[in-house]
Amino acid sequence: MTEINYGPLAGLIGVWKGDKGTDIAPEPVGSENNAYFETITFEGIGDVSNAEAQTLVLLHYVQVVQRSENSDVFHHQTGYWSWDAATGVVTHSFAIPRGVSVVACGKVLDTDHAPANAIVFQVSAEDTGFDGGIAQSSFMQRKANTSAFSQILTLDGDTLSYEQTIMLDIYSKTFEHTDSNILVRQPSS
Ligand code: HEM
Repeated sequence: MTEINYGPLAGLIGVWKGDKGTDIAPEPVGSENNAYFETITFEGIGDVSNAEAQTLVLLHYVQVVQRSENSDVFHHQTGYWSWDAATGVVTHSFAIPRGVSVVACGKVLDTDHAPANAIVFQVSAEDTGFDGGIAQSSFMQRKANTSAFSQILTLDGDTLSYEQTIMLDIYSKTFEHTDSNILVRQPSS
């Protein structure tokens, strides 16, 4: 079997857990702030070629997010991270159950813009974007439109952290829905 070189994505493969999550989510008046814990599982799934011109290496992941106060699963997400060795482009594509899918494109930050020894992935998408984009149900477009997504994911050895901002048009306002957490690599069983 051919050995796959996952490049900067290689260190993500595995199971990660974190209990320092902070979520700020929309309410009709003001916002709700939720503490959360989560598990993210990344698996290397090989490579793919597009139009016989582009080769991507791929990880698939599942993210399960639970409220700290009662352990209810209140966010679930699955998707892919890809890396194009020829261009350095990193793409994070994912879906959430509300009827929203995102293709966020970006890169690995160069060492001048990343902590020593860390690999920092920066990706973003806009609903009007020409590179990547956001697809959502007509209900969500009308009532809870996601207009932009941006994320910084930092891999530093056995620690994985992220910060993300989702711009929403909801309840007749523009709302900055944010999430961040710090996760620790779990020993492989
Ligand atoms: C750790 C990640 C996330 C957590 C914990 C989270 C949590 C929440 C919570 C608690 C709400 C409001 C309460 C509700 O109606 O369920 C909400 C609303 C929403 N979230 Fe997230 N979210 C996360 C990530 C995302 C992402 C990545 C997207 C889209 C790209 C997204 C899109 C939305 C939308 C469109 C709403 C408005 C729906 C509504 O409040 O009725 N969320 N989220």
